Formats: sequence, structure tokens, C-alpha cells
Amino acid sequence: MPGELDFEMLRLRADELAGRAYAPYSEFSVGAAGLVVDGRIVGGCNVENASYPVGLCAECGLVSELVATGGGQLVAVSCRTGSGQTVLPCGRCRQLLFEHGGEQLLIDTPRGPRPLGELLPAAFGPGDLERSKES
Ligand code: THU
Repeated sequence: MPGELDFEMLRLRADELAGRAYAPYSEFSVGAAGLVVDGRIVGGCNVENASYPVGLCAECGLVSELVATGGGQLVAVSCRTGSGQTVLPCGRCRQLLFEHGGEQLLIDTPRGPRPLGELLPAAFGPGDLERSKES
């Protein structure tokens, strides 16, 4: 595993959070836990809605807690299903996480942690907005 990050601890936290998911429509519970550069652990669970497209992914809750508790850079994220399996963030959530972790952010996958830069190559990010202001 890259670095000395305690992914097992993040997986356990994501499992706990998956247990709190509100997913009566898909019955697919997800929990997400992230380690912040300052050592905080933030997380969330999916929250569905009778108006299906309005539902929130677990990573939305994670990013919301990150920002609401002071922000900072994410260094590692684990997403888990209610049955204790590691699941990859959907495309939209990869973009959400990219904003707060960049390409070095380690995302747990069924084959172990991988940098977000591999899962979302050539991502659009804050740097692209800055560059467009310069030209
Ligand atoms: N889901 C997440 O919470 N995160 C993901 O990255 C993938 C999908 C949720 C959304 C929906 O509530 C359920 O899983 C089925 O798609």
C-alpha cells in the first residue's frame, strides 16, 4: 500500500457510515470516509430521495463535512457498500473529490489504493480556471 496510511481504519469508518445510509429506493447503501491532511476524519453516507435524481452520494456528505469543519486537503478516501465491499466513486464524485485532493489523493479500490489521477485522468480543476484568467 502506498505510504503509511491506515486504510483499514478508513474502511471501518466507511462501513459504519454505510450502516447509516438512507437508501430505500436502490437498497444500495454507501459510506465514505476520508483522511484530511491535518489528521481529521470526515465522512458521509448516501441519502436518497423520492425524486430519484435528487439523491446524494456518500461522497457529497464527506465533502460537505470536510468544508463545514474547516476544509483542508484530502489525502485518502475509502467508499464501502453496506455489505462491506470497497466501491469506486462515481464519475461525478471523482470530480467532487478532485477539487479537495487533487491527483495525489489516494482512493481505495477493490485492488488497493490508487491515485485519483489514474481514476480521473486529465481532470478539469481549479487550475484551469486560474489559467484562463491569465490569458
Ligand atoms: N452512490 C454513492 O453514494 N456513491 C457513489 O460513488 C456511487 C453511487 C449511491 C447513489 C445511490 O444512492 C446508490 O449508490 C445507487 O447508485
